[in-house]
Amino acid sequence: MTANPMQGSRNFMVLKKAVNPAMAGLTLAKPVIVNDMVLVEENTTLTGSHIVMLNRNNVKEAFVYIFVSRIPEHSFVETLEQPEPGEPTVKEVKDIINNYEHTLELTQAIQRVVESGEKIDISDCCDVVGYFQKLLKRTRNIILQLINTNTPYNYLLAHSLNTCILAMLLGRRMELAENETLALGITGILHDLGMSMVKDRIWENDRKLTDNEFFEVMKHPIFSRNIIGTIKGVPVTVSVMAYQHHERIDGSGYPKALMSDRIHKLSKIFMVADTYEAASSSRRHRKPKLFHDTVKELINLAGVKYDRGAVKALVTELSLFPVGSFVRLSDGNVAKVVGTNPLVPDRPKIELLAQDKKKKKIDLAREKSLNIMEVLEFNE
Ligand SMILES: [Fe+2]
Repeated sequence: MTANPMQGSRNFMVLKKAVNPAMAGLTLAKPVIVNDMVLVEENTTLTGSHIVMLNRNNVKEAFVYIFVSRIPEHSFVETLEQPEPGEPTVKEVKDIINNYEHTLELTQAIQRVVESGEKIDISDCCDVVGYFQKLLKRTRNIILQLINTNTPYNYLLAHSLNTCILAMLLGRRMELAENETLALGITGILHDLGMSMVKDRIWENDRKLTDNEFFEVMKHPIFSRNIIGTIKGVPVTVSVMAYQHHERIDGSGYPKALMSDRIHKLSKIFMVADTYEAASSSRRHRKPKLFHDTVKELINLAGVKYDRGAVKALVTELSLFPVGSFVRLSDGNVAKVVGTNPLVPDRPKIELLAQDKKKKKIDLAREKSLNIMEVLEFNE
């Protein structure tokens, strides 16, 4: 049992909410009681073993603390207490998480300034984007765990930052110049600023949009380009990417239905990062797609709607089973993907969830006798 997260915590707001408890790292705000017996006590931070137990007992809902403006303690931080050579230390991981939160706050501040119509200064934001750009090589797996964890943040904020990081990973993998990779990252933060100008912010509704409403939302790349055009010191490619991030190379995108040769090479990379992030994140009106399914869909559309090279870079970076996926192995065990092997995208690093094999890590690139048999729903 852990300490009550309300105690000794200053910088975050906590809500109690009934949710499906299938997320490691959430902390119970009320005990889970089954057949008059306490199955898991109040204030317990859920681990993979708890989730397996809750599923076995068919517990579909539990009251948990929802951390609104600070990140919950991530289970993966614990797994790094004895980092392997070359892996970041726990302190470095905590620094990354702090900077991730700090960037979310900066992104939120920029969104608020846009809404107020005041002058926008993004210099701080460019600094932290540069920080993540430098970190990507050595801490890729940690950052992937962070961006592939469904945290209870405002969707647009988390989407913006995650797309920023992912787009830079693709840029680096495609060996772009440093300034081009940085431009991809800055675009991540700014590309959806135009959403705040969409009529009545209809995209915030809890339901699927009507055709007319979607038509309104389709204007947001134009709004984003116009806003970015007023910000001093932003490379021109950033407004081009923001304008083109919903175009597709077969001309099926919007707002201009441009064909491949009219779409900037950086936009073609950025749209792959944006599509992956948007599809694999939860929204108010729908569940997230499985990371694996999103990657498969992008592979199917490579060369049709998306640039082949950019999709290849995504698969290399994320693997076929992105970090955060849950998989069943050939020996029947369930595991969570915790790292990738860029040279063997079908054999990632995993961590067993079974109760008797506490946090045992396996690198499938080395352990050839085990195979991934299927990808599981988050709450299986
Ligand atoms: Fe968008």
